[in-house]
Amino acid sequence: MRTFTKLILAGVGVAFLAVKWTAPSFDPESLKGARVLVTGASTGIGEQIAYHYARFGAQIVITARRENVLQQVAEKCLSLGAQKALYISADMASESDPDRVVSFALDQLGGLDYLLLNHIGPSPFSMWEGDVDHTRWLMKVNFFSYIQMAWKALPSLEQSKGSLVVVSSLLGKMPSPFVAPYTSTKFALNGFFGSLQHELAMKKSNVSISICTLGLIDTESAMDKIKGITDIPAYPATDAALNIITTGATRQQELFYPWFTNIVSVVKDWFPSVTNHIIRNTYSYHP
Ligand SMILES: NC(=O)c1ccc[n+]([C@@H]2O[C@H](COP(=O)([O-])OP(=O)(O)OC[C@H]3O[C@@H](n4cnc5c(N)ncnc54)[C@H](OP(=O)(O)O)[C@@H]3O)[C@@H](O)[C@H]2O)c1
Ligand SMILES: *[C@@H]1O[C@H](CO)[C@@H](O)[C@H](O)[C@H]1NC(C)=O
Repeated sequence: MRTFTKLILAGVGVAFLAVKWTAPSFDPESLKGARVLVTGASTGIGEQIAYHYARFGAQIVITARRENVLQQVAEKCLSLGAQKALYISADMASESDPDRVVSFALDQLGGLDYLLLNHIGPSPFSMWEGDVDHTRWLMKVNFFSYIQMAWKALPSLEQSKGSLVVVSSLLGKMPSPFVAPYTSTKFALNGFFGSLQHELAMKKSNVSISICTLGLIDTESAMDKIKGITDIPAYPATDAALNIITTGATRQQELFYPWFTNIVSVVKDWFPSVTNHIIRNTYSYHP
């Protein structure tokens, strides 16, 4: 059994490397002057995405709720080499703000080459205690605003042969405890944008969609949540951000970061009781 498992893992590893080697190579020059909108860019991975685009000389619009923080991020983007760095504060739980943000970016940049949907509303890391209102609110922030912004930006992305990048999570493929509302929003994203990927391909659309599956990343909000509950390894936000950008720029359908999230996604369903046992023992629970 053990050798059997090892053989399977080796097979998956070889297949994974084969796919990596045949991936198109990233040309940093292609991002010079690119017109980019990044959401959730006041902190965490979104902030790092903005800085990388800035270093590549892009024209950037960033958004989140906190205007004073956005202003500082925009200033740093300019100092790093962004051709333009504009910000607009918005609340993605609102019904009108998602459209308003895309309109702002289209007006200011004269179109869009990349739309990076990355923001998430804060959600407790705890057992589900029946807060339906919070879940409904989180769906608005983490899901409905995404599809609204994507639809609004699509005509411009068609014109520019642009890319839509959706930041999702391993929790959009595999549920774990303490994150029921959050994992629901990520499953919804994977379902919706997976379907849209098919439809755009069938329509021979100019637009590429990339769905990014991330493991644990060392942002402040994530580290605060898991402290004392699990010690699974966290990967650097700046590296995650760079991988997200290159995935969009090379028009790949999927990103798995770190790499083993790919293997977990594939292997998790082979022996579900083993998977469940491992997941439940990864988190400590003190009732
Ligand atoms: N960190 C991880 O371990 C991890 C793992 C897997 C996937 N991901 C994914 O990576 C992405 C970024 O995660 P992160 O850890 O960088 O998140 P984060 O540090 O918590 O940042 C969230 C961003 O969203 C903004 N935001 C929050 N509520 C908002 C609202 N109502 N309207 C508009 N903007 C709002 C925040 O800014 P304001 O507060 O200023 O609004 C902030 O810029 C998310 O899609 C997340 O699901 C993260
Ligand atoms: C794709 O881009 C070309 C311009 O390069 C444009 O003529 C065409 O209408 C676009 N396709 C769609 C579906 O918009």
